[in-house]
Amino acid sequence: MAKDGLSITDNRTGSSLEIPITQGTIGAMDLRQIKVSEDDFGLMSYDPAFGNTASCKSTITFIDGDKGILRYRGYPIEQLAEGSNYLETAFLILHGELPSKSEYEEWIYDITHHTIIHENIKKFMEGFRYDAHPMGMLLSTVGALSTFYPEAKNIFDENVRKKQIHRLIAKMPTLAAFAYRHGRGLPYAYPDNDLSYAGNFLNMMFKMTESKYKPNPVIERALDILFILHADHEQNCSASAVRAVGSSHVDPYSAIAAGVAALYGPLHGGANEAALRMLNEIGSKDKVPEFIKRVKAGEGRLMGFGHRIYKAYDPRAKIIKETADKVFEVTGMNPLLEIALEVERIALEDDYFIKRRLYPNVDFYTGLIYQSLGFPVDIFPVLFAIPRTSGWLAQWEEMLIDKDTRIARPRQVYVGKDKRDFKAIGKRR
Ligand code: CMC
Repeated sequence: MAKDGLSITDNRTGSSLEIPITQGTIGAMDLRQIKVSEDDFGLMSYDPAFGNTASCKSTITFIDGDKGILRYRGYPIEQLAEGSNYLETAFLILHGELPSKSEYEEWIYDITHHTIIHENIKKFMEGFRYDAHPMGMLLSTVGALSTFYPEAKNIFDENVRKKQIHRLIAKMPTLAAFAYRHGRGLPYAYPDNDLSYAGNFLNMMFKMTESKYKPNPVIERALDILFILHADHEQNCSASAVRAVGSSHVDPYSAIAAGVAALYGPLHGGANEAALRMLNEIGSKDKVPEFIKRVKAGEGRLMGFGHRIYKAYDPRAKIIKETADKVFEVTGMNPLLEIALEVERIALEDDYFIKRRLYPNVDFYTGLIYQSLGFPVDIFPVLFAIPRTSGWLAQWEEMLIDKDTRIARPRQVYVGKDKRDFKAIGKRR
């Protein structure tokens, strides 16, 4: 019996089998050898939502959900939030190492010089209704970019990939800001290459008639930290969508559009918007106990709480709370903070939440900061999509060059009707 192996006895047949354990996993395909007869398909594992299935090997992001640890390429998120900036972190996520000075300068130059979008994209955006949700606009315009860069289909050409990576990271803030200004009926503000990534985004969002927009440095830094915290989060719903769609060898714009679509949902990146709406609905601190009671009775979820992986305080939420204090010093206190703190206090003392290990996640406090920074609620998920683009691209590229990758194609357990014969319409009951 191998020491690093798993012995399985199939009680249906009495036969036994040993399968190897590598890096804490067994190969699901090894289970196929377990059969009741020659023509049996073989044993499969049933794992809806991939709760216990590793779909890839990755070197990008490490999470220990029990200890509340998050690292990009080995670097603790706390250290990156303290000492790095978003573009440097994006370089790290994509390349595996922090950049040297010259690599950093070249990277910043490349991203800065791809921020402008084709004027036809602007026209495309004008076709949306005035009240179109900016996330819907973002997901369709990211997909539409594939029609502007047909060479992007050459996904196995490293230089072509690199170019699309620059374009996507550079153009996301432009698309996001244009989507916002479309809804407000404001003229589009073009990128300013003198500004930082976050500073330029603020410029494209909020510039009015001034000839040069000057971002408030505290706000610019706070946004940059939020971007760092959202850059990657291993195999979440949207990263898995990007990998699955990308595994069909489609161009990266189409794969990233799938990521944006997945992120849009209220259980994923849409949770920051949902959390803020929830705090508004609660209305005041004294109404919190009543609201929690309704959640416990199954009448909805506490948005911004709980996580598939974190069964401890989300390390990003901790950093966000500290960032919020700095932002509120500039913008004034967000009145919803009092309600949020009360929700957290009551939930963390309540048996329902303790038993299920539900803690605030990244989306619980981000909405408060975004609102104080002047962002409207419907743009919140877009603010998640901008920085997550670097993570999606790293996941996409890692998937493409991994020799284990094949087109994503899960199995099913068919529980429908057995074979039956077609009946003409007049003969049906
Ligand atoms: N409020 C109340 N109860 C909850 C919550 C919540 N936010 N989250 C989970 N539960 C309960 C759930 O009802 C279930 O209880 P029971 O065992 O009695 O049926 C138990 O906790 C386990 O929940 P689950 O749905 O099996 O957990 P999951 O791992 O499938 O879902 C989640 C994770 C994040 C989708 C879920 O916690 C949730 O819906 N949270 C609210 C939405 C949210 O904040 N999403 C943002 C996630 S972080 C950012 C990101 O990565 O996108």
